[in-house]
Amino acid sequence: MIRPPGLMAISDLHVRHPDNRRLVEDLYPGSSGDWLLVAGDVGEFVADVAWALRLLSERFATVVWVPGNHELWTPADDPVQLRGEARYRHLVGICRELGVVTPEDPYPVWEGSGGPVTVVPMFLLYDYTFRPAGAPTQEAALERAYDAGVVCADEFLLHPDPYPSREAWCRARVDETAARLAARDRDVPTVLVNHYPLVREPTRVLRHPEFAQWCGTELTADWHIRYGAAAMVYGHLHIPRSTVYDGTRFEEVSVGYPREWRPRAVRPAPRTILPVQRAPETTRGGHRAT
Ligand SMILES: [Fe+2]
Ligand SMILES: [Fe+2]
Repeated sequence: MIRPPGLMAISDLHVRHPDNRRLVEDLYPGSSGDWLLVAGDVGEFVADVAWALRLLSERFATVVWVPGNHELWTPADDPVQLRGEARYRHLVGICRELGVVTPEDPYPVWEGSGGPVTVVPMFLLYDYTFRPAGAPTQEAALERAYDAGVVCADEFLLHPDPYPSREAWCRARVDETAARLAARDRDVPTVLVNHYPLVREPTRVLRHPEFAQWCGTELTADWHIRYGAAAMVYGHLHIPRSTVYDGTRFEEVSVGYPREWRPRAVRPAPRTILPVQRAPETTRGGHRAT
C-alpha cells in the first residue's frame, strides 16, 4: 500500500562526492505528495547545488532549502566567485527559478498528515558563542581550536561580505528571522529548519568540543519554545539522530560523507518529520543515540 504523503527531511548531501551524487540520483519520494526539507550542505560549487536542487524539485511536490556553511564557501576553483551575502542571494535566485522555497520566501504551510504546520526555513549561521569550557571569549575559543587542530574551513572559505564578520552576519540574520517569526500565525505550530541546531545540547557529543563554536548561536536557545515548534530540523554535525529538548523533537537528518555513512547498516534516506513516526531516542541532556 502506498503511504500518505509526508513532510520529509535530509541534509548534508555533499554531492561533490560521487557516492553521494549517486544517492541523490536514487532519491525519490515514497509518495507523490511528499515535501522535502533540505537542511544545507548540498555542496560547495554553485553548479552542484543547482544540479541537486533541480533534480529534487522535479521529483518532490515541494522542496525547501536552507544554506549550510558549504554552500557559502567560495572555493578557488568554482567559476562562481561570489562571496558572502552576494553568493547567498545568487543561490536564492537559482532556487526561485526552480520553485524551491528558501528562507527569503513566505513560510509555506504543510497541510498534509500531521499538519497544519508552518514550515520555517531559516538561515542563521553561528557566532562563536558555543565555546569550549574554560574559554571565556571568542578569541580564547578560537585559540583553543587552533591548538587542537580542529579549525573549521569556514575561517578561510566562508566570507561574510559585506558584514565585518561571520558573527555580525549571524546577528543580522537572527534579528531579521525573529521579526518574521513574531509576525507568524500563532495558532499554527511550526517546523523550524536550520543548518545548525537551535540549542547547544546536540554539540555536546562532538568528538572535538572546540568545533562547537562553528555550530550555532546561544541567541536561539529558546526559539523552539517561543515559536511553537512541533519539530526542529537540522544537520551539520553529521551525527544523525532524534532527540527531545523541552518536549520538542529535534531531528538531525544529515547524510554526511561516504566514509561516515558507508559503514552504517542502512543506506541514508530522508527522515519523516510528519506524520510522527516513532518515539525519539534520547532526552534532554541525553547522550549520543546508538
Ligand atoms: Fe555537512
Ligand atoms: Fe555544515
